[in-house]
Amino acid sequence: MNLKNRNFLTLKDFSPEEITFFLDLAADFKEKKKKNIPVNTLKGKNIALIFEKPSTRTRCAFEVAAHDLGICTTYLAEGSQIGDKESIADTARVLGRMYEGIEYRGFEHSNVEELAKYAGVPVWNGLTNEFHPTQMLADMLTIREHFGILKGLKLVYFGDARYNIGNSLSIVCSKLGLHFVVCAPEKYFPAESLIDECREWCKTSGGTIKCTTNIEDATKDADIIYTDVWVSMGEPDEVWAERIKDLKPYQVNAAVMKKAKKTAIFMHDLPSFHNLETKIGYEIGKKFNVTEMEVTDEVFESPQSLVFEGAENRMHTIKAVIAATLGWK
Ligand code: CP
Repeated sequence: MNLKNRNFLTLKDFSPEEITFFLDLAADFKEKKKKNIPVNTLKGKNIALIFEKPSTRTRCAFEVAAHDLGICTTYLAEGSQIGDKESIADTARVLGRMYEGIEYRGFEHSNVEELAKYAGVPVWNGLTNEFHPTQMLADMLTIREHFGILKGLKLVYFGDARYNIGNSLSIVCSKLGLHFVVCAPEKYFPAESLIDECREWCKTSGGTIKCTTNIEDATKDADIIYTDVWVSMGEPDEVWAERIKDLKPYQVNAAVMKKAKKTAIFMHDLPSFHNLETKIGYEIGKKFNVTEMEVTDEVFESPQSLVFEGAENRMHTIKAVIAATLGWK
């Protein structure tokens, strides 16, 4: 399959076969890394990594993946001219003349679209408010490694599904034939227009998509229970009080996991607020008198939890995206 020169902005733009190609290539890279087989045939190429929001996994995955492929990286965060003294369009035309590819993590999805419009080289979305496609490849690879299949599995997402993770899970599950359920108060359901689009993909994939407020109904026969932090990057601190009140009943805890299949796994894109008695999230926890938020420490640390397998797979799948779009052979 030839994906050379393609942008990677959202999985809406990729067919199920193309998404599966990324997963297969990532699995191959993972195997090669384990066996110390070099894959550095893109020596001499350079890529730019733009991060307007913080990151651990995505940044490290891009840096390590690029290094393994023989590519040099430039990290651009505070201190660059982007969005301050220079427009996205001008930045794109500058970077496009120096680099073979550009990663962008930022706010509005229109920013990464603007970058892609003007860069003339592949642009990869490292997270926007609306979509997080590289995360989806890692999640699907992790699920496929565990169950051996994707089609027909039931994945339940607990939490605010209006942003990048909820939207992106809706898309990837619908394209690959999973049964996707959002379990949250109604105001946190994904946009109806996106659900309509997903229903079209489900017609050919055999998947389904559903939103419910009912935890019993959602978790029955679930294979994967997935959650995310209740407040996204870029949202103001004022939303914490409302989010905690609304989503506390939808916390993933041992009782929720018991309602799912015995074989069910727990997933989280990370970072997670699972133990606020430590330094992490301590001030927020103290303010609202909670020690655990979207997931309890018990579930996070349980054998059902594949959160760190998922984190590792960020690197293998991002390597596949860079390689495929830069024409790796
Ligand atoms: N899941 C994820 O995108 O992690 P980072 O914010 O650390 O990149």
